[in-house]
Amino acid sequence: MIILGIETSCDETGISIYDNKLGILTNKLFSQNIIHTKYGGIMPEIASKNHYKKIFTVLNQALNKSKKKIQDINIIAYSAGPGLPNSLLIGTTLAKSISLIYKIPSVPINHLEAHIMSIMINKDKPNFPFISLITSGAHTILCIVKGYGKYKIIGQSLDDSAGELFDKISILLKLKLPGGKYISKLSKYSNKNLNFPKPLINKNTLNFSFSGLKTHIFNYIKNNKLNFNNKANIAFSLQESITTILVEKIKLASKKYKINNLSIVGGVSSNNYLRKKMYNLIKFNKNVFFNPKKLCTDNAAMIAYTGWIKYSLDKKIRNNLKIDIKSKWKINEKF
Ligand code: KG4
Ligand code: ZN
Repeated sequence: MIILGIETSCDETGISIYDNKLGILTNKLFSQNIIHTKYGGIMPEIASKNHYKKIFTVLNQALNKSKKKIQDINIIAYSAGPGLPNSLLIGTTLAKSISLIYKIPSVPINHLEAHIMSIMINKDKPNFPFISLITSGAHTILCIVKGYGKYKIIGQSLDDSAGELFDKISILLKLKLPGGKYISKLSKYSNKNLNFPKPLINKNTLNFSFSGLKTHIFNYIKNNKLNFNNKANIAFSLQESITTILVEKIKLASKKYKINNLSIVGGVSSNNYLRKKMYNLIKFNKNVFFNPKKLCTDNAAMIAYTGWIKYSLDKKIRNNLKIDIKSKWKINEKF
């Protein structure tokens, strides 16, 4: 089976061709990071316009690279939410048009579920049940994955997400998007830990809160000179606080639910410092799973793969052209 994956939930235009026997044939991405850096954050109108401008080129590139034609596709999987409504509509319209014209079944995919499932694309993957920490630009969610499509949310951010903090502080430090990537690069030049707060770290809860840390850093920046050295120290200390919080919460979840298979997915999971801290847990008999970097940040391969799983397991989900987008769509909620 050949699956076409389409991702346009935020600012990345992704098209992937996935073969259920051979794996990912191609995973193409057009990133709008440079465009949105100019505005200090993602501008929804500009994101959807750029999806529209680029999606046909990216589709052609993906088909050419995998040496496939539209007629070779057996299933179309597309991000139907959560995300920016006008961005989701571009990918959804493309999916439904191809589906209608070529009579190919189409499957709406929950973008967050696709992040969770992305870990299963790899050869080295966790057995069920495992704990998944989704840490992306918009979400920080801890859940137990009991099986395909079986998710129990056990914690989440009460305010900002970890990725949002990386992005906001990065703009204040005059760095580029994606913030986490550039904060991580700059942190290597730091010579001092500024000991920023780590909200909820010692509390017996699996929820997260990052807004206090954000306000603390806003005030620090207001009251201190921003030379290169100080910027590097802010970058290091922010990364230190966020990664410590993430690791401590996943450790607590592992202890509470007695589950030793731990995975971290989503854009923030590409952070090397976080990976190093997590791999330290192997000493304590934890099995730690990360994606290759291309599967951490938004991509269409995870959509195609999840589409294949959904198509195989749930006959009702196929080819319903009446299905709308769902810009607010919880992981454990049916479409
Ligand atoms: O999963 P993703 O691509 O998009 C969403 O679904 O939101 O995640 C984007 C987030 C951004 O907040 C970005 O700053 C963060 O991932 N990110 C990183 C790194 N690369 C991207 N955070 C920390 N370290 C990185 N190397
Ligand atoms: Zn995402």
